[in-house]
Amino acid sequence: MTGESSHPAQKPMAAEGGKLILPAFAKINLSLEVLGKRPDGYHEIMSVMQTVELHDELSFRPAKEIILRCNLPSLNDEDNLVFKAARLLARCADIRNGVEIELVKRIPVAGGLGGGSSDAACTLIVLNRLWHLDYPLEKLQDLSAELGSDVAFFLQGGAALAEGRGERLSPLPAFPTTWVVLLTPHISLPDKTRFLYSCLTPANHTDGSTTLALSLALREGQPIPSTLFRNTFEPILRKKYRLIEDLHSKLRLPGVEVIGLSGSGPTLYALCASKSVANTIYERLLNLPETTVFLTRTISREEIRAKMGH
Ligand code: C5P
Repeated sequence: MTGESSHPAQKPMAAEGGKLILPAFAKINLSLEVLGKRPDGYHEIMSVMQTVELHDELSFRPAKEIILRCNLPSLNDEDNLVFKAARLLARCADIRNGVEIELVKRIPVAGGLGGGSSDAACTLIVLNRLWHLDYPLEKLQDLSAELGSDVAFFLQGGAALAEGRGERLSPLPAFPTTWVVLLTPHISLPDKTRFLYSCLTPANHTDGSTTLALSLALREGQPIPSTLFRNTFEPILRKKYRLIEDLHSKLRLPGVEVIGLSGSGPTLYALCASKSVANTIYERLLNLPETTVFLTRTISREEIRAKMGH
């Protein structure tokens, strides 16, 4: 299976037949360190997150109630974060009318790429405008914490240092535009994120210094050594799943500067030296069994703002 994420540039807040059509971008974690377990059951993390151009597509049309349609039938229910985001905002603002939302999924579900969280953030941004609420970013950030730990990141995207359980953000200067190949192995784990966090022991905890060094290098515009792209979950997943270890070795190709794991996996990313290197690797790997392959690139906060029209 393959997926190309390069689409023609989207018009900001494109309106078609009374519908607003918006992209919800995926992310990769350039680093992810788990510092320890918190009394509330979550884990304290430090992560540098970066949006990529691969995206889902959401369309919005005014309606009498909140209605969601998704091209994946398994996501077509009230547990979908898009539905929860719309209902949360409507309840908070005492909105009586609704909205019809159509969600086209391209980002793999539970792949470690933040697709569901990004869809939720996109919903908050658009409904804030459609319902003329004018809530400031901080208010949307507070609300987003109820939906999931990394929803807040997607309200702005770009590159950011995430702390706390992932919701405390410090924007970072743009990561240089980089072409990326994503490999998502078809491994399904029910309640994946919760399960993988529950596998961690204190021996897996680190002090966040690698992530801080990565964010400092980004702030200062310094070259980033590949040793700073560290993910607590990577050694665990490579040991647990033969397929991930195999994919990791397949990515060790000339012109691949960094191989990393995104979130709690199972998606691996390869940061490539150039577009042509990425294209060659994409074409070489696109027929891998049990794996979806994407060719994409990093996308900055400013580019996202231009595409979203804010
Ligand atoms: O916040 P989100 O809904 O994405 O988290 C799913 C689950 O992952 C949480 O219920 C928790 O068990 C685990 N988690 C964690 N520490 C984090 C983020 C998530 O333990 N920082």
